[in-house]
Amino acid sequence: MFFNMDIGLVFDKKLVKSCHVPQKKVVFEEAIERILRKGELMKNIILTGDRPTGQLHLGHYVGSLKNRVRMQEDPENKLFIMVADMQALTDNAKNPDKVSSNILQVALDYLAVGLDPKRSTLFIQSQIPELAELTMYYLNLVSVGRVRRNPTVKSEIEQKKFGESVPTGFFIYPVSQASDITAFKANLVPVGEDQKPMLEQTQEIVQSFNHTYGDVLIEPKGVFPEKGQGRLPGIDGNGKMSKSLGNGIYLADSADVLAKKVMSMYTDPNHIHVEDPGQVEGNMVFTYLDVFGKDKEKISELKEHYRRGGLGDVKIKRYLIDVLEAEFGPIRSRREEYAKDPDAIMEMLKEGSQKAQAVAAETLKEVKQAMGINYFG
Ligand code: TRP
Repeated sequence: MFFNMDIGLVFDKKLVKSCHVPQKKVVFEEAIERILRKGELMKNIILTGDRPTGQLHLGHYVGSLKNRVRMQEDPENKLFIMVADMQALTDNAKNPDKVSSNILQVALDYLAVGLDPKRSTLFIQSQIPELAELTMYYLNLVSVGRVRRNPTVKSEIEQKKFGESVPTGFFIYPVSQASDITAFKANLVPVGEDQKPMLEQTQEIVQSFNHTYGDVLIEPKGVFPEKGQGRLPGIDGNGKMSKSLGNGIYLADSADVLAKKVMSMYTDPNHIHVEDPGQVEGNMVFTYLDVFGKDKEKISELKEHYRRGGLGDVKIKRYLIDVLEAEFGPIRSRREEYAKDPDAIMEMLKEGSQKAQAVAAETLKEVKQAMGINYFG
Protein backbone atom coordinates (compact mmCIF):
# COMPACT_ATOMS: atom_id res chain seq x y z
CA MET A 1 0.00 0.00 0.00
CA PHE A 2 1.25 3.42 -0.91
CA PHE A 3 -0.10 6.51 0.69
CA ASN A 4 0.45 9.61 -1.36
CA MET A 5 -0.48 12.47 0.89
CA ASP A 6 -0.50 15.30 -1.59
CA ILE A 7 -2.84 13.84 -4.13
CA GLY A 8 -4.68 12.09 -1.34
CA LEU A 9 -4.88 8.70 -3.02
CA VAL A 10 -4.39 5.29 -1.60
CA PHE A 11 -3.17 2.64 -4.02
CA ASP A 12 -3.73 -0.88 -2.96
CA LYS A 13 -2.08 -3.57 -5.02
CA LYS A 14 -4.83 -5.95 -4.02
CA LEU A 15 -7.28 -3.81 -5.94
CA VAL A 16 -5.20 -4.31 -9.04
CA LYS A 17 -5.04 -8.04 -8.52
CA SER A 18 -8.82 -8.26 -8.25
CA CYS A 19 -9.23 -6.59 -11.65
CA HIS A 20 -10.82 -9.08 -14.04
CA VAL A 21 -9.64 -8.00 -17.48
CA PRO A 22 -6.04 -9.27 -17.81
CA GLN A 23 -4.85 -6.61 -20.28
CA LYS A 24 -6.28 -3.84 -18.21
CA LYS A 25 -4.63 -5.36 -15.18
CA VAL A 26 -1.20 -5.10 -16.80
CA VAL A 27 -1.77 -1.49 -17.79
CA PHE A 28 -2.98 -0.71 -14.29
CA GLU A 29 -0.01 -2.37 -12.68
CA GLU A 30 2.44 -0.54 -14.90
CA ALA A 31 0.80 2.78 -14.21
CA ILE A 32 0.85 2.16 -10.50
CA GLU A 33 4.47 1.03 -10.54
CA ARG A 34 5.37 4.22 -12.37
CA ILE A 35 3.54 6.34 -9.86
CA LEU A 36 5.17 4.45 -7.03
CA ARG A 37 8.62 4.89 -8.49
CA LYS A 38 8.05 8.54 -9.23
CA GLY A 39 6.71 8.97 -5.73
CA GLU A 40 9.78 7.38 -4.27
CA LEU A 41 12.12 9.51 -6.30
CA MET A 42 10.35 12.75 -5.71
CA LYS A 43 8.94 12.61 -2.29
CA ASN A 44 10.52 12.54 1.10
CA ILE A 45 8.43 12.14 4.17
CA ILE A 46 10.22 13.82 7.02
CA LEU A 47 9.42 13.50 10.70
CA THR A 48 11.09 15.14 13.62
CA GLY A 49 10.26 16.86 16.87
CA ASP A 50 11.32 18.33 20.18
CA ARG A 51 10.45 17.78 23.80
CA PRO A 52 8.55 20.76 25.16
CA THR A 53 10.59 21.23 28.32
CA GLY A 54 11.61 24.79 27.54
CA GLN A 55 12.05 27.29 24.77
CA LEU A 56 14.30 26.38 21.88
CA HIS A 57 17.79 27.85 21.71
CA LEU A 58 20.50 28.50 19.15
CA GLY A 59 21.77 24.96 19.65
CA HIS A 60 18.43 23.61 18.43
CA TYR A 61 18.59 26.08 15.58
CA VAL A 62 21.94 24.96 14.17
CA GLY A 63 21.44 21.33 15.16
CA SER A 64 18.08 20.77 13.56
CA LEU A 65 15.64 23.66 12.96
CA LYS A 66 17.70 25.10 10.12
CA ASN A 67 17.76 21.74 8.33
CA ARG A 68 14.00 21.44 8.63
CA VAL A 69 13.34 24.85 7.14
CA ARG A 70 15.70 24.05 4.28
CA MET A 71 13.89 20.78 3.63
CA GLN A 72 10.53 22.51 3.73
CA GLU A 73 11.60 24.73 0.84
CA ASP A 74 11.35 21.76 -1.52
CA PRO A 75 7.63 21.38 -2.31
CA GLU A 76 8.17 17.67 -2.91
CA ASN A 77 9.07 17.15 0.74
CA LYS A 78 6.32 16.50 3.24
CA LEU A 79 7.25 17.43 6.82
CA PHE A 80 5.69 16.29 10.06
CA ILE A 81 6.92 18.32 13.02
CA MET A 82 5.96 17.03 16.42
CA VAL A 83 5.86 18.63 19.84
CA ALA A 84 6.93 15.53 21.77
CA ASP A 85 5.01 16.07 25.00
CA MET A 86 4.57 12.33 25.69
CA GLN A 87 8.32 11.92 25.57
CA ALA A 88 8.82 14.99 27.78
CA LEU A 89 6.49 13.43 30.36
CA THR A 90 8.71 10.35 30.64
CA ASP A 91 10.92 12.27 33.05
CA ASN A 92 8.43 14.95 34.11
CA ALA A 93 5.50 12.83 35.26
CA LYS A 94 5.20 14.80 38.50
CA ASN A 95 5.50 18.07 36.68
CA PRO A 96 3.01 18.01 33.78
CA ASP A 97 2.53 21.80 33.84
CA LYS A 98 6.12 22.30 32.80
CA VAL A 99 5.42 20.20 29.71
CA SER A 100 2.00 21.58 28.78
CA SER A 101 3.03 25.20 29.27
CA ASN A 102 5.96 24.79 26.91
CA ILE A 103 3.91 23.43 24.02
CA LEU A 104 2.97 26.94 22.93
CA GLN A 105 6.57 28.12 23.40
CA VAL A 106 7.97 25.42 21.13
CA ALA A 107 5.24 26.04 18.55
CA LEU A 108 6.12 29.77 18.56
CA ASP A 109 9.77 28.88 18.01
CA TYR A 110 8.79 26.65 15.07
CA LEU A 111 6.73 29.36 13.41
CA ALA A 112 9.36 32.02 14.12
CA VAL A 113 12.15 30.14 12.32
CA GLY A 114 9.90 29.65 9.31
CA LEU A 115 8.20 26.30 9.68
CA ASP A 116 4.97 26.89 7.84
CA PRO A 117 1.75 25.09 8.80
CA LYS A 118 0.52 25.50 5.22
CA ARG A 119 3.37 23.35 4.00
CA SER A 120 4.19 21.21 7.04
CA THR A 121 2.07 19.39 9.57
CA LEU A 122 2.77 20.65 13.08
CA PHE A 123 1.18 18.51 15.78
CA ILE A 124 1.17 17.41 19.42
CA GLN A 125 2.37 13.86 20.12
CA SER A 126 -0.05 13.03 22.96
CA GLN A 127 -3.04 13.77 20.74
CA ILE A 128 -2.19 10.80 18.52
CA PRO A 129 -3.02 7.71 20.63
CA GLU A 130 -2.01 5.49 17.71
CA LEU A 131 1.61 6.26 18.59
CA ALA A 132 1.25 4.70 22.03
CA GLU A 133 -0.46 1.68 20.53
CA LEU A 134 2.33 1.11 18.03
CA THR A 135 4.83 1.34 20.88
CA MET A 136 3.15 -1.57 22.66
CA TYR A 137 3.70 -3.81 19.64
CA TYR A 138 7.25 -2.60 18.99
CA LEU A 139 8.27 -3.17 22.61
CA ASN A 140 7.87 -6.90 22.03
CA LEU A 141 10.52 -6.76 19.31
CA VAL A 142 13.19 -5.15 21.51
CA SER A 143 15.11 -6.71 24.38
CA VAL A 144 15.78 -5.00 27.68
CA GLY A 145 19.50 -5.48 27.04
CA ARG A 146 19.26 -3.64 23.73
CA VAL A 147 17.53 -0.65 25.31
CA ARG A 148 20.07 -0.62 28.13
CA ARG A 149 22.90 -0.33 25.60
CA ASN A 150 21.51 2.83 23.99
CA PRO A 151 24.35 5.32 24.67
CA THR A 152 22.17 8.43 24.74
CA VAL A 153 19.67 6.94 27.19
CA LYS A 154 22.54 5.54 29.22
CA SER A 155 24.21 8.91 29.62
CA GLU A 156 20.89 10.63 30.32
CA ILE A 157 20.19 8.12 33.09
CA GLU A 158 23.61 8.86 34.57
CA GLN A 159 23.21 12.62 34.20
CA LYS A 160 19.82 12.59 35.88
CA LYS A 161 21.13 10.20 38.54
CA PHE A 162 18.16 7.89 38.03
CA GLY A 163 19.89 4.59 38.76
CA GLU A 164 17.35 1.81 39.24
CA SER A 165 14.55 4.31 39.76
CA VAL A 166 14.58 5.33 36.11
CA PRO A 167 10.92 5.55 34.99
CA THR A 168 10.14 2.67 32.63
CA GLY A 169 8.62 5.10 30.14
CA PHE A 170 11.87 7.03 30.04
CA PHE A 171 13.91 3.86 29.67
CA ILE A 172 11.95 2.81 26.58
CA TYR A 173 11.55 6.21 24.93
CA PRO A 174 13.72 5.17 21.95
CA VAL A 175 11.04 2.58 21.15
CA SER A 176 8.31 5.19 21.35
CA GLN A 177 10.43 7.32 19.05
CA ALA A 178 10.39 4.47 16.54
CA SER A 179 6.59 4.72 16.61
CA ASP A 180 6.73 8.47 15.97
CA ILE A 181 8.91 7.94 12.92
CA THR A 182 7.28 4.86 11.42
CA ALA A 183 3.67 5.98 11.97
CA PHE A 184 4.23 8.57 9.25
CA LYS A 185 6.35 6.27 7.06
CA ALA A 186 9.07 8.87 7.33
CA ASN A 187 12.19 8.15 5.30
CA LEU A 188 14.18 11.11 6.65
CA VAL A 189 14.63 12.31 10.22
CA PRO A 190 16.56 15.58 10.68
CA VAL A 191 17.96 15.55 14.21
CA GLY A 192 21.04 16.41 16.23
CA GLU A 193 23.96 14.00 16.56
CA ASP A 194 22.76 12.85 19.99
CA GLN A 195 19.75 11.23 18.30
CA LYS A 196 21.85 8.81 16.22
CA PRO A 197 21.20 5.88 18.59
CA MET A 198 17.43 6.50 18.29
CA LEU A 199 17.65 6.21 14.53
CA GLU A 200 19.59 2.97 14.79
CA GLN A 201 17.02 1.63 17.21
CA THR A 202 14.21 2.55 14.81
CA GLN A 203 15.99 0.92 11.88
CA GLU A 204 16.34 -2.31 13.86
CA ILE A 205 12.67 -2.28 14.85
CA VAL A 206 11.63 -1.73 11.23
CA GLN A 207 13.82 -4.60 10.07
CA SER A 208 12.53 -6.88 12.76
CA PHE A 209 8.90 -5.94 12.14
CA ASN A 210 9.11 -6.30 8.37
CA HIS A 211 11.00 -9.58 8.68
CA THR A 212 8.48 -11.00 11.13
CA TYR A 213 5.18 -9.72 9.78
CA GLY A 214 5.86 -8.55 6.21
CA ASP A 215 6.94 -5.32 4.57
CA VAL A 216 4.88 -2.57 6.11
CA LEU A 217 7.29 -0.12 7.69
CA ILE A 218 9.78 2.23 6.04
CA GLU A 219 13.37 2.27 7.26
CA PRO A 220 14.31 5.89 7.98
CA LYS A 221 17.61 7.69 7.53
CA GLY A 222 18.89 10.35 9.89
CA VAL A 223 19.80 13.77 8.49
CA PHE A 224 22.49 15.22 10.69
CA PRO A 225 23.99 18.72 10.73
CA GLU A 226 26.98 19.42 8.52
CA LYS A 227 30.40 19.07 10.10
CA GLY A 228 31.16 21.92 12.47
CA GLN A 229 27.47 22.89 12.62
CA GLY A 230 26.43 20.18 15.01
CA ARG A 231 27.00 20.79 18.65
CA LEU A 232 26.86 24.40 19.61
CA PRO A 233 28.62 24.84 22.96
CA GLY A 234 27.02 26.99 25.64
CA ILE A 235 28.12 30.60 26.18
CA ASP A 236 30.22 29.41 29.13
CA GLY A 237 32.13 27.01 26.88
CA ASN A 238 30.93 24.11 28.99
CA GLY A 239 29.86 21.39 26.59
CA LYS A 240 26.52 21.56 24.88
CA MET A 241 24.10 24.44 25.08
CA SER A 242 21.38 23.30 27.43
CA LYS A 243 18.65 24.58 29.65
CA SER A 244 19.89 22.67 32.67
CA LEU A 245 23.36 24.24 32.38
CA GLY A 246 21.85 27.73 32.06
CA ASN A 247 24.27 28.53 29.24
CA GLY A 248 21.88 29.08 26.36
CA ILE A 249 20.80 31.88 24.08
CA TYR A 250 17.12 31.44 23.26
CA LEU A 251 15.28 32.33 20.08
CA ALA A 252 12.88 34.27 22.29
CA ASP A 253 15.63 36.29 24.02
CA SER A 254 15.27 40.05 23.57
CA ALA A 255 18.03 42.04 21.85
CA ASP A 256 19.10 43.21 25.28
CA VAL A 257 19.34 39.75 26.79
CA LEU A 258 21.17 38.46 23.73
CA ALA A 259 23.71 41.28 23.97
CA LYS A 260 24.23 40.68 27.70
CA LYS A 261 24.76 36.98 27.12
CA VAL A 262 27.32 37.61 24.40
CA MET A 263 29.09 40.13 26.64
CA SER A 264 29.37 37.43 29.33
CA MET A 265 30.71 34.80 26.94
CA TYR A 266 33.72 32.70 27.79
CA THR A 267 36.73 33.89 25.76
CA ASP A 268 40.38 33.42 26.71
CA PRO A 269 40.93 33.82 30.46
CA ASN A 270 44.59 34.69 29.84
CA HIS A 271 43.74 37.53 27.48
CA ILE A 272 43.76 40.18 30.17
CA HIS A 273 45.06 43.31 28.42
CA VAL A 274 43.99 44.31 24.94
CA GLU A 275 47.60 44.12 23.74
CA ASP A 276 48.07 40.53 25.00
CA PRO A 277 48.02 37.80 22.37
CA GLY A 278 44.77 35.88 22.67
CA GLN A 279 43.67 32.35 21.99
CA VAL A 280 41.04 31.65 19.38
CA GLU A 281 40.58 27.93 20.04
CA GLY A 282 38.01 27.30 22.74
CA ASN A 283 37.08 30.98 22.67
CA MET A 284 33.29 30.99 22.38
CA VAL A 285 33.12 34.27 20.47
CA PHE A 286 35.16 32.77 17.65
CA THR A 287 33.37 29.45 17.89
CA TYR A 288 30.05 31.25 17.36
CA LEU A 289 31.48 33.43 14.62
CA ASP A 290 32.59 30.27 12.82
CA VAL A 291 29.05 28.89 13.04
CA PHE A 292 26.99 32.02 12.35
CA GLY A 293 29.32 34.48 10.58
CA LYS A 294 28.91 34.86 6.82
CA ASP A 295 32.00 37.01 6.18
CA LYS A 296 34.65 34.31 6.53
CA GLU A 297 37.44 36.62 5.36
CA LYS A 298 36.71 39.19 8.04
CA ILE A 299 36.53 36.44 10.65
CA SER A 300 39.94 35.07 9.71
CA GLU A 301 41.38 38.60 9.86
CA LEU A 302 39.87 39.06 13.32
CA LYS A 303 41.38 35.76 14.41
CA GLU A 304 44.81 36.79 13.17
CA HIS A 305 44.56 40.11 14.93
CA TYR A 306 43.34 38.51 18.17
CA ARG A 307 46.22 36.01 18.11
CA ARG A 308 48.76 38.77 17.51
CA GLY A 309 47.34 40.90 20.31
CA GLY A 310 45.76 44.33 20.18
CA LEU A 311 42.16 43.24 19.67
CA GLY A 312 39.92 43.53 22.69
CA ASP A 313 37.15 41.11 23.73
CA VAL A 314 34.53 43.86 23.69
CA LYS A 315 35.24 44.53 19.99
CA ILE A 316 34.82 40.92 18.92
CA LYS A 317 31.76 40.56 21.11
CA ARG A 318 30.14 43.60 19.51
CA TYR A 319 30.78 42.10 16.12
CA LEU A 320 29.23 38.79 17.20
CA ILE A 321 26.16 40.63 18.51
CA ASP A 322 25.72 42.20 15.04
CA VAL A 323 26.12 38.82 13.37
CA LEU A 324 23.57 37.17 15.67
CA GLU A 325 21.12 40.06 15.40
CA ALA A 326 21.21 39.80 11.60
CA GLU A 327 20.08 36.20 11.80
CA PHE A 328 17.92 36.16 14.91
CA GLY A 329 16.45 39.68 14.97
CA PRO A 330 13.88 38.86 12.26
CA ILE A 331 13.12 35.52 13.95
CA ARG A 332 12.48 37.31 17.25
CA SER A 333 10.12 39.82 15.59
CA ARG A 334 8.14 37.06 13.92
CA ARG A 335 7.92 35.23 17.24
CA GLU A 336 6.54 38.35 18.94
CA GLU A 337 3.90 38.71 16.22
CA TYR A 338 2.73 35.09 16.56
CA ALA A 339 2.75 35.33 20.36
CA LYS A 340 -0.02 37.94 20.17
CA ASP A 341 -2.57 35.27 19.26
CA PRO A 342 -2.00 32.07 21.25
CA ASP A 343 -5.50 30.76 20.42
CA ALA A 344 -4.64 30.78 16.73
CA ILE A 345 -1.50 28.75 17.46
CA MET A 346 -3.46 26.16 19.45
CA GLU A 347 -6.01 25.95 16.64
CA MET A 348 -3.21 25.38 14.13
CA LEU A 349 -1.80 22.59 16.34
CA LYS A 350 -5.25 21.06 16.65
CA GLU A 351 -5.71 20.94 12.89
CA GLY A 352 -2.20 19.57 12.45
CA SER A 353 -2.88 16.90 15.08
CA GLN A 354 -6.05 15.82 13.28
CA LYS A 355 -4.17 15.48 10.00
CA ALA A 356 -1.33 13.60 11.68
CA GLN A 357 -3.74 11.26 13.40
CA ALA A 358 -5.36 10.27 10.11
CA VAL A 359 -1.96 9.22 8.76
CA ALA A 360 -0.93 7.35 11.93
CA ALA A 361 -4.28 5.53 12.01
CA GLU A 362 -3.69 4.28 8.47
CA THR A 363 -0.28 2.88 9.42
CA LEU A 364 -1.61 1.29 12.60
CA LYS A 365 -4.29 -0.42 10.55
CA GLU A 366 -1.65 -1.88 8.25
CA VAL A 367 0.46 -2.94 11.21
CA LYS A 368 -2.45 -4.80 12.81
CA GLN A 369 -3.38 -6.37 9.50
CA ALA A 370 0.20 -7.60 9.03
CA MET A 371 0.22 -9.01 12.56
CA GLY A 372 -3.11 -10.69 11.98
CA ILE A 373 -4.80 -8.95 14.90
CA ASN A 374 -7.39 -7.03 12.89
CA TYR A 375 -10.03 -9.43 14.21
CA PHE A 376 -13.06 -7.38 13.31
CA GLY A 377 -11.86 -6.28 9.91
N1 TRP B 1 14.09 12.96 21.27
C1 TRP B 1 13.80 14.19 20.59
C2 TRP B 1 14.35 15.33 21.46
O1 TRP B 1 14.66 15.14 22.59
C3 TRP B 1 12.33 14.41 20.36
C4 TRP B 1 11.66 13.35 19.54
C5 TRP B 1 10.66 12.53 19.96
C6 TRP B 1 11.96 12.99 18.20
N2 TRP B 1 10.30 11.69 18.96
C7 TRP B 1 11.06 11.92 17.88
C8 TRP B 1 12.88 13.43 17.25
C9 TRP B 1 11.09 11.31 16.63
C10 TRP B 1 12.89 12.80 16.01
C11 TRP B 1 12.01 11.74 15.70
O2 TRP B 1 14.41 16.45 21.01
